[in-house]
Amino acid sequence: MNVIQRGKAKPFRTVEFDERANAVRLIDQRLLPHRFEVVAMPTHRETAAAIRDMVVRGAGAIGATAAFGLAQGAREFRGRGLAAFERHVERVFLHLKEARPTAVDPVNAMTGVRQQMAAGTSVAEQQSLAVEAARAFAEEDVRHCREIGEHGAPLIREGMRVLTHCNAGWLAFVDVGTATAPLYAAQAAGRKFHVYCDETRPRCQGASLTAWELHQQGIAHSVIADNAAGHLMQRGEVDLVIVGSDRVLGRTGEVANKIGTYTKAVLAKRHRIPFYVAIPLSTIDWELTDGMQIPIEERSPEEVLGAWGLDADGRRTRVQVANPGSPARNPGFDVTPAELITGIITPVGILPPRHLWRNRERLV
Ligand code: MRU
Repeated sequence: MNVIQRGKAKPFRTVEFDERANAVRLIDQRLLPHRFEVVAMPTHRETAAAIRDMVVRGAGAIGATAAFGLAQGAREFRGRGLAAFERHVERVFLHLKEARPTAVDPVNAMTGVRQQMAAGTSVAEQQSLAVEAARAFAEEDVRHCREIGEHGAPLIREGMRVLTHCNAGWLAFVDVGTATAPLYAAQAAGRKFHVYCDETRPRCQGASLTAWELHQQGIAHSVIADNAAGHLMQRGEVDLVIVGSDRVLGRTGEVANKIGTYTKAVLAKRHRIPFYVAIPLSTIDWELTDGMQIPIEERSPEEVLGAWGLDADGRRTRVQVANPGSPARNPGFDVTPAELITGIITPVGILPPRHLWRNRERLV
């Protein structure tokens, strides 16, 4: 998508791979919306740290980063023989997998890369297949987001007020985004609408990232406090909710997404407002049988107790908000049951959440 730099729109992707330097290049999302900077991760260990520290975040974006990180790690191998290489690749896989536990996309992406690598009969061949497969994953992510846009755009009618939570925009994927794809497609079709961005405490991905994206693309929007959505819904000021997801259970239709999504889904049901979840196929988990089995990341209490922003001199600073000495809990995600979800917007069409399993042949 475009980023406006010195008054000119320039296209960027969230994640790229520099084959010559064997480096993963990422937009540093911790600095947005105040500074736009692309950083290079020179080893798979630094790529894993970038996922853990949320230089890059969002299910599809960390999926592509992990895929490139696996290829990068495979190319770091300095030993001899396929057996030693396979042990090395397993260690790289586990290290990248551990970086963040809730989104299933990194595991699905890396599993796909490893399957394609297996066709190679030498280390060099497998290394080159790994890069090819990671690139294919990234391209598929972009294609899926565009298809989500085509299927989801008719939901966005002229004058609508749409609520979204966190950031499931192009920054959360390689490009385009999922929850934002129908918005961008509706905008391209000439429709006007307004987006409410939940600020999404504690890291404020809605206030900082979604608002920044929509501003770059010229879409009308307002940031709202997380607690304001119920009030707006009660007054008839929200027509539709669209969010992304970090893991959707193919067997049950349950959706893990950024903490606070469940609350919004309950409110939407109470006010009979359609609630949609937009996902690429890499977000589906076909194994787990119950949403309560989804590993929910617990992040540092510091994120809840304070906040980041710019000081009067334009320096990025953390301020303490909560009572000094008080502890905090910081679960990063919650699970929304299928009964609260109107539809899952997938690259193959919009499906009721409980129909994923019966459609699984079209969804793999
Ligand atoms: O912690 P994050 O920023 O990586 O979490 C991302 C989300 O949960 C988003 O809400 C998004 O919908 C899922 S990623 C496409």
